[in-house]
Amino acid sequence: MVAIKLAIIGAGRIGRLHASSLKQLALELAIQVTWVADVSEDAARSLAEAIGSANWTTNIESVFLSDVDAVIVAASTAVHSECLRLAAQYHKHIFCEKPGGLNTESLLASKQALDEAGVKVCIGFQRRFDRDVLEIVAKRDRGEIGDVFTATLNHRDPVFQGIAYLGTAGGLFKDLGIHDFDLIHLLMPFPIKSVHTLGRSNIPDLAAVGQTDTAGIIIEHQGNRWSYLSFSREAHFAYDQRLELLGTKGGLVSKLHPVNAVEICSSEGLVLDPHYSTDMPAFIYRHRLSYERELRSFIKQLLDEPGPRGASIDDALNAMVLADAAMESLARGARIDFEAFKAEKLGKTS
Ligand SMILES: NC(=O)c1ccc[n+]([C@@H]2O[C@H](COP(=O)([O-])OP(=O)(O)OC[C@H]3O[C@@H](n4cnc5c(N)ncnc54)[C@H](O)[C@@H]3O)[C@@H](O)[C@H]2O)c1
Repeated sequence: MVAIKLAIIGAGRIGRLHASSLKQLALELAIQVTWVADVSEDAARSLAEAIGSANWTTNIESVFLSDVDAVIVAASTAVHSECLRLAAQYHKHIFCEKPGGLNTESLLASKQALDEAGVKVCIGFQRRFDRDVLEIVAKRDRGEIGDVFTATLNHRDPVFQGIAYLGTAGGLFKDLGIHDFDLIHLLMPFPIKSVHTLGRSNIPDLAAVGQTDTAGIIIEHQGNRWSYLSFSREAHFAYDQRLELLGTKGGLVSKLHPVNAVEICSSEGLVLDPHYSTDMPAFIYRHRLSYERELRSFIKQLLDEPGPRGASIDDALNAMVLADAAMESLARGARIDFEAFKAEKLGKTS
């Protein structure tokens, strides 16, 4: 069987992680990574050498000009729009890391170009493939908690990653919170009426540059339902991704995932001594299998095989508009009428 040829653009943390997932998937699927691109020559070369069979370049356009079937974009967020545009221009299928662009305007332009080109697209919201999330959605759909009326999502990094990283990543709402702005559409599939955000800066370096590092967002859905999202750049105690769905018959809860849940048994008794990840990047420990599942799903999408699909460009756009509304609420210090905001945002830019 002829292997699907892939390129990886961006050989940083997540690019290397995707390369290792693809190596694993190549044991059972006919895929081959033939190109690696990164503006850093060292990064591109060292990942290509680790893969073994891949060419490398510092010019991303040259991978779109090559004979690859699809590109996996794991470069910094500022490059996502350009990669999506090039995928449409050169008719390459594309998996692009979240968020897919820095704002609603660029995502909308990408969507139009990609729709016209008819290429396959997946945006890297890997939490859609998280086992807890899949189980919660399945149980909700089986009616096990009755009529769902509220969701609570915590998303907190254990430690602040530093100003340098934040520079290109899009801030608390579009870098960290964008996962939750996507997930809420899956967990609470009810039209959104309003968004209200409160925020503060607990980290002196971020306070100094006027960046919010801690936020709470109330999303009001139709039918007297609501979601509460809580974000932080520095929880100290863990990579805190707990979530809860409540319905009229009960609730579904995804707790913290300990790195170690060994019980200590001694003459003192039995002690559960969980250890939670407080290192960064903690997401690699928490979501490793989800990253692999989303790439497997993308390969199946390329092969037109059935199975769960990852986030579409429309899903990415929905997440981005919600992030924009949350930021607008914080800036105005007021609750945002979401329908009006969304209509204006999408209408103004179309
Ligand atoms: N889904 C997730 O959970 C998750 C987790 C982490 C990062 N990400 C996303 O992945 C992307 C990369 O994040 P990271 O943590 O790996 O960052 P990183 O800084 O470790 O790596 C980014 C790489 O992109 C390269 N790059 C920058 N501009 C480029 C260009 N013009 N052309 C080619 N390469 C370029 C850099 O040289 C660097 O090697 C970001 O968009 C981020 O939002 C997603």
